[in-house]
Amino acid sequence: MTDPVFLITGASRGIGAAVARRAAAAGYRLILTGRTPEPLAALADELGGPARALAHPADVTDWTALTGVVAAAEERFGRLDVVLANAGTSVVTSFLGDGGAPPEQWRDLVLTNVHGPALTARATLPALRATKGHLLLTGSAAGRGVRPGNLYAATKWAVTGLAQAIRAECVGTGIRVTLLQPGLVDTGAIPPHRRDDPKLDPDDVAAAVLYAVGQPPHVDVNEIIVRPVGQRN
Ligand SMILES: NC(=O)c1ccc[n+]([C@@H]2O[C@H](COP(=O)([O-])OP(=O)(O)OC[C@H]3O[C@@H](n4cnc5c(N)ncnc54)[C@H](OP(=O)(O)O)[C@@H]3O)[C@@H](O)[C@H]2O)c1
Repeated sequence: MTDPVFLITGASRGIGAAVARRAAAAGYRLILTGRTPEPLAALADELGGPARALAHPADVTDWTALTGVVAAAEERFGRLDVVLANAGTSVVTSFLGDGGAPPEQWRDLVLTNVHGPALTARATLPALRATKGHLLLTGSAAGRGVRPGNLYAATKWAVTGLAQAIRAECVGTGIRVTLLQPGLVDTGAIPPHRRDDPKLDPDDVAAAVLYAVGQPPHVDVNEIIVRPVGQRN
């Protein structure tokens, strides 16, 4: 079996699950990870069972758990071709203290959204070097503009910097690096005050991922920003 292998963090729902479905349809074998085992197992069953999809739970902020995912991927499928560092979380914040999540919850936001993709890159890039593979990171349109009081947006600015630092280090390896920056997407992660705003479907974002991945090997799509029509920033 030589079909390429695609690893997705945050695969259990939302954008990650939509990418998994499109990647499976395009012929990839899959490694699906996230913290909660049941939805990952159900998605792996839906996408072809053990020969085609491996569900391996892990928290992206846990280095040992992440290296376990990569080891399981190499043991099951023998290679890694594409990685989407997608796991992320969001809470509403205010630096003036005008509502939002209490600061005790900010640590998890920063660790998941910044430490998580950094560790994912470190855990997977050696395997991607062997295949001249492709790393994609899910940032956000929030990582391009100023959003008052918004720590989530600041974490996505960090993902923008991370993607650029990784790409710079990978020059000469054949590895491709893509920063994906979606606008508002209709998943469970939408904050209550934006429920009525224009939204993309998760499959719209998945289509953008498969566009980047499907380019010829000499073409490196470094950034994709995709917003729903009518989104302000
Ligand atoms: N929805 C939007 O409007 C939007 C817009 C731009 C960018 N994004 C970004 O897109 C990515 C996916 O978001 P989504 O909207 O699809 O969110 P979602 O529906 O809430 O899915 C988040 C996924 O990440 C996993 N996850 C969360 N924390 C994790 C951790 N510490 N370790 C491992 N897995 C973890 C979740 O599974 P478990 O809870 O089981 O771990 C789930 O599979 C995120 O990076 C988000 O910031 C979203």
